[in-house]
Amino acid sequence: MLRVVILAAFVCLAVGQSNNTKFPFCKLCKCETDDDVSANVTCTTDQRNYIFENSFWFNQSTNESYAYNALNFQNNQFLNLSYVFPKSNLTYLDLSNNAIYRISDGVFQNLQKMITLILSYNGLEMIHPDAFKGVYMEGMLMPLRSLKEIRLDHNKLHTLNQDLFEHCTDIEILDLSHNPIETIDHHTLLAIDSLPNLRELYLQYTEINTLPENMLHTPKYLRILDLSGNTRIDKIPNTLIQARSLEKFYLNNTGFVNLTEDNGFPEIPSLKTLHLCRNQHLSVIGQHSLSKLTGLEELRLSYNIDLSSIHPKALARSLNGGAVWPPIKKFYIEYNKIAYLDSDILSRWDTLSGLDIRENPWTCECENRWLIEDLLEYYLKIDEEGAKKVMCAAPIEMKSFSFYNLYEKKSHLRCLDLYGARPERDGPMLVGILAGVLIAIPAILFVFYAYHKRWFSICGICDNSPAAYSRRFYEQGASDDKL
Ligand SMILES: *[C@@H]1O[C@H](CO)[C@@H](O)[C@H](O)[C@H]1NC(C)=O
Ligand SMILES: *[C@@H]1O[C@H](CO)[C@@H](O)[C@H](O)[C@H]1NC(C)=O
Ligand SMILES: *[C@@H]1O[C@H](CO)[C@@H](O)[C@H](O)[C@H]1NC(C)=O
Repeated sequence: MLRVVILAAFVCLAVGQSNNTKFPFCKLCKCETDDDVSANVTCTTDQRNYIFENSFWFNQSTNESYAYNALNFQNNQFLNLSYVFPKSNLTYLDLSNNAIYRISDGVFQNLQKMITLILSYNGLEMIHPDAFKGVYMEGMLMPLRSLKEIRLDHNKLHTLNQDLFEHCTDIEILDLSHNPIETIDHHTLLAIDSLPNLRELYLQYTEINTLPENMLHTPKYLRILDLSGNTRIDKIPNTLIQARSLEKFYLNNTGFVNLTEDNGFPEIPSLKTLHLCRNQHLSVIGQHSLSKLTGLEELRLSYNIDLSSIHPKALARSLNGGAVWPPIKKFYIEYNKIAYLDSDILSRWDTLSGLDIRENPWTCECENRWLIEDLLEYYLKIDEEGAKKVMCAAPIEMKSFSFYNLYEKKSHLRCLDLYGARPERDGPMLVGILAGVLIAIPAILFVFYAYHKRWFSICGICDNSPAAYSRRFYEQGASDDKL
């Protein structure tokens, strides 16, 4: 037994040893190795003296590079990135959180296998195109030829050099979020539009209020666009109609008030997922505002604290006298201010695979009867726990009930009749009216009789006003005439 333990310990030590010689960064940093073939290294403490030390990158007697796959150098305070990284087959380089404000020319040129470069959370205000310069290649402009993903989020970029990506034109994922861009000026537009293979573009929290006209014409494979957190956006930018491949569009926390047919979505048949959440001022989703999204499968309209109304025809569009709906499979409207939901908003509720309607001030009356009698059954199958949490908020006597309570008790919600009255309250009311009529008829007859007999003039005597006097006088006269 002991021998086994010792052996195991020895093996471990040996592996540790070999890792340290095969991957010198593993001496200093956290390492994960993939069968000793390549290493993923994470150096998040201040190791900057070693990171820029050739002996950690290649064997100096053979010039052979160490087989790193991913290198994470966060929190190392580089400030000025001027070290030309030695030749390496790494595919992933993370330099986030290093206060980098300057990148020298060609520092990445020997990283020709690098697919992902992360420069998030730095102090970059300007980047020169030659920062991404690669090495000479026939017919190309010194490319960084494998680079597909570049993350420049959380920096201080206002604008991009129009040639910024001239050495890495194959970029598919560009993250510019959380930069104070404000307006996508002509240079920035040219830089973004120099990426014909762009698949994902992140522009959230960039203080922009729209996208320039025709911006989405060039990146014709764009699949994901995030414009969240730009509270000045209150209209869908016109260029969205050119996004022929867009599948996911995120518009959380923007400035929409009423989403209407005019400021709403143009035809984007490819769009499958739309997030419109945490829009503080959004109050109405109007008729046909979403109906041109004919391929929409997931609609997330959550945490819009003012959203009180979704038009029954928000999603449906008219076609040949009938109506057609997008094929929604996931429908999320939790944490809004919706009291009533029309069952015609979607065409099928029974085929949903995702649903959340919790935390809305639901009115538990006739108009929402279908929610309890029909929808809850499907809801329980999709998400039993969530379904049981939906509560009534009105009328006051229903406040303590959940939809599930009412569903279980099979209680029928009362319904208003055509005139807005409550039929079940009509019974007592009719009895009341009848009683009133029965009492009123003799009373009126009596009053007529009494008037005719002038019994009221007895009372007229106690009235001393001039009008009463003259009335008495004429009454007197009138009865004299009669005599
Ligand atoms: C390693 O590279 C250096 C610089 O390029 C060169 O001078 C040296 O001869 C190379 N050594 C071997 C063993 O190839
Ligand atoms: C939004 O719609 C509501 C109700 O239709 C309307 O009262 C309000 O004026 C609209 N607000 C804006 C900014 O269009
Ligand atoms: C949008 O907001 C919702 C609700 O907070 C969240 O679940 C979703 O992840 C957000 N979408 C994006 C892309 O941030």
